Amino acid sequence: MIIQRVVLNSRPGKNGTPAAENFRVEEATLPDQISEGQVRVRTLYLSVDPYMRCRLNEETGVDYLKPWQLSQVTDGGGVGIVEESKYAHLSEGDFVTSFSWPWQTRAILDGEILEKVTPQLVDGHLSYFLGAIGMPGLTSLLGIKEKGHVTAGSNQTMVVSGAAGCCGSLAGQIARLEGCSRVVGICGTDEKRSVLVSELGFDAAVNYRTEDVEGQLRDLCPAGVDVYFDNVGGSVSDAVIRQMNENGHVVLCGQISQYNRDVPYPPQLPPAVEAILKERNITRERFTVLNYRDKFDSGILQLSRWFREGKLKVKETVINGLENMGAAFQSMMTGGNIGKQIVRISD
Ligand SMILES: NC(=O)c1ccc[n+]([C@@H]2O[C@H](COP(=O)([O-])OP(=O)(O)OC[C@H]3O[C@@H](n4cnc5c(N)ncnc54)[C@H](OP(=O)(O)O)[C@@H]3O)[C@@H](O)[C@H]2O)c1
Repeated sequence: MIIQRVVLNSRPGKNGTPAAENFRVEEATLPDQISEGQVRVRTLYLSVDPYMRCRLNEETGVDYLKPWQLSQVTDGGGVGIVEESKYAHLSEGDFVTSFSWPWQTRAILDGEILEKVTPQLVDGHLSYFLGAIGMPGLTSLLGIKEKGHVTAGSNQTMVVSGAAGCCGSLAGQIARLEGCSRVVGICGTDEKRSVLVSELGFDAAVNYRTEDVEGQLRDLCPAGVDVYFDNVGGSVSDAVIRQMNENGHVVLCGQISQYNRDVPYPPQLPPAVEAILKERNITRERFTVLNYRDKFDSGILQLSRWFREGKLKVKETVINGLENMGAAFQSMMTGGNIGKQIVRISD
């Protein structure tokens, strides 16, 4: 069987901006037979995520991520349907997901790396298993629960950067559900700002590309900032931290503004901002969702319940076709997405 697949064509270099040309599409032949323990799957949706920037380097900088190899198939989060199974726990027609789904139209995989998913949890929107009811949703939920110290009824204000992206758009809504009284987002376009306020229930939002973030936050967070869900780092985060109250908490989710720079993670804060953390007793602990695997099942059920009750709104930007994986990745890294950036491979 002839399939299409995506391989790594080139590396952007440690300090380079990724481009669609870093990826290449080619044809390949899939064997007709599968072995015991294997399944053949058809790919429905693939995910592009910021962490993949590390996999484009020869060294990823973290032990839980392996670099992609030149001319080898790239992989990440995926959802598909089982077409043939010689693995006891999966049958033809099952929907499955994996963090290590090869970027190809069909694949033969070890059944063990696949997890069966229940379409009812997402009202049939299978791509949500890669976003709101998947790893990014868990990141927002567990980040807030484990590092946010949100206490209902205590009038906390939360600021979220990267607010119109996948994790950010969910974090703002979850902050409200968990009891924050005011939620303010920071994002990169006026359209995103409008979506945050009119569709996702943020009290206000700031466009960091055109507005003075610190000045706006002073007005929009009159009682100061108690919790900061940080997706971006850099000067945006410095401005937020300067507005934080004593005993506040930074949820150190990600630092996407620094991912094309060869600096250790998390990048150092300017000394004056570091001094604010100490003076005001603000916590800023590294958060990695993969350290909380024991909470994934209950977290997915919680996210699904909120979604089906209409309390958690899900935004997606969908691009069609395996040949657009590189373009989708580039677009997400430069702010082209609202909500989760998804690539639809087949129906
Ligand atoms: N800790 C964990 O376990 C974990 C797990 C998943 C994700 N993450 C992190 O969470 C963050 C968000 O991930 P996501 O999946 O939700 O991605 P995403 O927000 O859907 O997409 C990335 C967004 O970041 C914004 N951005 C890009 N460059 C920027 C810059 N220089 N300054 C400010 N904003 C910039 C863009 O929107 P704008 O238009 O607003 O610029 C872009 O749409 C990332 O840092 C990621 O690494 C962490």
